[in-house]
Amino acid sequence: MTSNVEFRRMHADDLDQVLALEQQAFSHPWTRKLYDDALLSYECWMMLVDHQHVGHGVINQVLDEAHLLNIAIAVEQQGKGLGLQLLEYLMQRSSARGCVECFLEVRASNHSAYRLYERFGFNEIGRRRDYYPSAEGHEDALVMAATLFSEE
Ligand SMILES: CC(C)(COP(=O)(O)OP(=O)(O)OC[C@H]1O[C@@H](n2cnc3c(N)ncnc32)[C@H](O)[C@@H]1OP(=O)(O)O)[C@@H](O)C(=O)NCCC(=O)NCCS
Repeated sequence: MTSNVEFRRMHADDLDQVLALEQQAFSHPWTRKLYDDALLSYECWMMLVDHQHVGHGVINQVLDEAHLLNIAIAVEQQGKGLGLQLLEYLMQRSSARGCVECFLEVRASNHSAYRLYERFGFNEIGRRRDYYPSAEGHEDALVMAATLFSEE
């Protein structure tokens, strides 16, 4: 596990870096407008290693449910365990805020994200047909859920 890791809330002046990372990491990255809205409505977190931005995640809390809306690690930093560390941090935060379950959607073709979620303890609970735009037209979303356990 990388130890010199910090997490902090995302601010408007982080968005240039966040959008640049997403342009590299995603086929369909979030837009600035989506992030402007996310900063007002959701919990947006930055992950830093040696004070450098390496990833981020966005959580929406609805009563005692967390919804993971976005998670990304910079392409050149992937495959080192940072994605799992970020996911664990976001889930701990959600649990500490009273969430007992987390839901997310993932592209059916996104095997690395799917494996990451499975490693954490997410299970596939459903499928939304043609939910995402894709190069071929549309692709399905897999819906996943995990129970969150309080550390107390
Ligand atoms: C999905 C994503 C967040 C995963 O981040 P990551 O930092 O690469 O995740 P991890 O390093 O924890 O795990 C990735 C792989 O590295 C492996 N790994 C982890 N630590 C490792 C280490 N120290 N040495 C070698 N391999 C390692 C894991 O076993 C895993 O392997 P697998 O994919 O074959 O199962 C990242 O790929 C990403 O940002 N993708 C683009 C955006 C995206 O798709 N987000 C999800 C939207 S739903």
